[in-house]
Amino acid sequence: MNFQTDAAGALLSTDLPLPKRTGKVRDVYDLGDELLVVSTDRISAFDWILPVGIAGKGELLTRLSRFWFTLLDFPNHLVSVDLPLGRLEGIDAEPLRGRSMVVRKAQVVPFECVVRGYLEGSGWQEYQQNGAVCGVSLPAGLRQCEALPEPIFTPATKAEHGHDENVSYEWMAQQIGEDLAGRLRTASLEIYRQAAEHARGRGLIIADTKFEFGLVDGELILVDEVLTPDSSRFWAADEYEPGHAQRSFDKQFVREWLSRSDWDRNSPPPALPAEIIAKTQAKYREAYERLTQ
Ligand SMILES: Nc1ncnc2c1ncn2[C@@H]1O[C@H](COP(=O)(O)OP(=O)(O)O)[C@@H](O)[C@H]1O
Ligand SMILES: [Mg+2]
Repeated sequence: MNFQTDAAGALLSTDLPLPKRTGKVRDVYDLGDELLVVSTDRISAFDWILPVGIAGKGELLTRLSRFWFTLLDFPNHLVSVDLPLGRLEGIDAEPLRGRSMVVRKAQVVPFECVVRGYLEGSGWQEYQQNGAVCGVSLPAGLRQCEALPEPIFTPATKAEHGHDENVSYEWMAQQIGEDLAGRLRTASLEIYRQAAEHARGRGLIIADTKFEFGLVDGELILVDEVLTPDSSRFWAADEYEPGHAQRSFDKQFVREWLSRSDWDRNSPPPALPAEIIAKTQAKYREAYERLTQ
């Protein structure tokens, strides 16, 4: 077994002697009918994984997802956050403690289930072009980051490489069937409602978020991570003001720094300065603390 860390101690990759799949952030090991999902400290931006990590990020993402899985009234994949020591005999897996989840292995629905309560990101881009987002037409005259009349379900394809692509609900329903598509839309909007209400009580707005669902024996369950700064836009409610971009609790500093650098986005990205790493760590921690305390 092997654990690769960067100079600042961020965990970049793991290598247990088990069948493995590597995502952008997570290393996923096959335990048979269950999976061991390890959140590393990797961070991606502009579809690239950066050469340095954000130490502690994997643990915060794991703790936050676990918090939501417990709070939300919807079935999910989490079995345990304890290391499955019985299945790791002879393996020193201690560095994975706190950042691992044993989950039910699901057949993952090949769509990102995005819910938007506010107009930002690719939704704002689309709206400016055609007054609609993923085929949902919206009132004219909305400003950047404006609250939508009601939250909307705007699915996207899960691209193996590169950008996810926004699609209409109708197109999704053609691919996976009206019944499953309808269940996904209803579930996504309901989970967003529950989460947004909780966050609002903690002074945070969940502008939008992305869920992944899977099927286990016909049962629809939430999989992957939920409602973290990697999958959601969180804004401070007391600073919220539509008409321009908001300060967000995610990789904003990373994206801004990369945009100012001379990186061309077609070659491996540069390492982040320590100051940007520290600011990003603080943002992830603040989101976690505000939502859970
Ligand atoms: N319960 C589950 N069953 C099967 N696959 C899962 C489950 N939970 C998460 N996954 C998959 O594990 C991977 C997690 O790694 P991640 O780094 O988040 O990947 P990505 O680069 O696709 O975002 C994703 O491909 C996700 O679909
Ligand atoms: Mg993911």
